[in-house]
Parts: sequence; C-alpha cells; structure tokens
Amino acid sequence: MRVLVLHSHPVESSYGNALYMQTLESLKTAGHEVDDCNLYAENFDPVLSRHDRMVYHDYPENTELVKDYVDRLKLAEGLVIVTPVWNFGFPAILKGYFDRVWLPGVSFDLVDGKVESRLRHIRKLGAVLTYGATPFRAFVAGNPPKKIVKRVLRAQINPRRSVTFLAHYDMNNCTAETRSAFMGKVKTAMERF
Ligand SMILES: Cc1cc2nc3c(=O)[nH]c(=O)nc-3n(C[C@H](O)[C@H](O)[C@H](O)COP(=O)(O)O)c2cc1C
Repeated sequence: MRVLVLHSHPVESSYGNALYMQTLESLKTAGHEVDDCNLYAENFDPVLSRHDRMVYHDYPENTELVKDYVDRLKLAEGLVIVTPVWNFGFPAILKGYFDRVWLPGVSFDLVDGKVESRLRHIRKLGAVLTYGATPFRAFVAGNPPKKIVKRVLRAQINPRRSVTFLAHYDMNNCTAETRSAFMGKVKTAMERF
C-alpha cells in the first residue's frame, strides 16, 4: 500500500518525532511505500485565508495553492497520523492541513446537500497520539482527538474500515519504560498495518 504519514511535532529531538521515525521504518519493513509528510519540516501554511474561503467550493480552483498536498492525498491508500494532542485537539498545523487540503472535490462532494466521500481509495487509517493527560482526564474532556480519528476521519474515508488507534496517555508522568513499551506497540502495529 502507499501510506501517507502526517506528522506535526515541531521538535526533531522529541519523543513524538521518534514515534514518527518508528512509524515510517515499520511501515517500510512491512513492504509499504511511504510518503512521509512532516508538516513542520515542510513549512506547511495552515491558515485558510480569505481567498481560500472564497474559492473553497470551486474545484479544481480551490486546490491550486495546495496542489502538491492534494496530489499526495489522492495517491494515498493508507493514512497514518502521528501527533501530540494540544488543547484536546490537533496542533494548528495539522488542523490547518485538514482545513486547506481536505477540500470539496478532493475529500468529499456535496451531492443534493449530502456529503459523499471522495477518499474511498484510502483503505486503512491509523493514529499514533501522545497526551499529557491520563485516560480518565481525556475521557472527562470528551477526548475530541480520539473522536476526530475514530469517528470524523473514519466516516470521511470509509466508515466500514477499521482504525488502528494508539495513544500514550499521561506523558506528564511517563518513564523510559512507558515510552519504550509504547514505542514497541507502535512498531508492532505498523508492521501489521
Ligand atoms: C500547547 C500544548 C497544549 C497541550 N494541551 C494538552 C491537552 O489539551 N491535553 C493533553 O492531554 N495534553 C496536552 N498537552 C501535552 C502534550 O500532549 C504532551 O506534552 C505531548 O503529547 C508529549 O510530547 P512532547 O512533550 O514531546 O511535546 C499540551 C502540550 C502543549 C505544548
């Protein structure tokens, strides 16, 4: 499969970046072709501008400023997101990626007022997330990032497909052991992706 891996951690030496590298390596080991999309390293501009909003529904004009990202998404047969959780959501650069790239005509079409997916070419979805919060605190907060992955993105791609959702919670109290155990979990899951 050709797997698009989206990453949004600003620090190269972070554990989040190590999870990203592990994800890339394990997917390659499994024989997948990997498109590594490190949004910070690529200086992705996440701001949906006035112009972007004016042409938002006008395919293909709406894709002109993000054509490379649209082409990469269209080629994807698998999608994996590797990101920290910020304010119980995605970092702005990743949120902006969805705003600016998952456009009408690209990820969905409005047909008689109903959303129809244009992402059926993606056969598998995965996410590797890190939280500062414990599972209980995330649960009490409604765990929006988990719902975005398991409900929103999954529904947009194909609700019939399963999702590989991996999370290291409680990073505020993590140890070398918990980080290593989670890295192993990511390795195994991505080698089976
Ligand atoms: C700006 C910012 C906002 C954060 N907001 C949350 C949050 O709402 N919920 C949470 O569980 N952790 C939150 N965290 C903690 C990060 O998820 C945690 O630090 C990260 O997953 C671990 O990676 P890092 O410390 O290497 O960046 C936040 C961290 C930052 C920097």
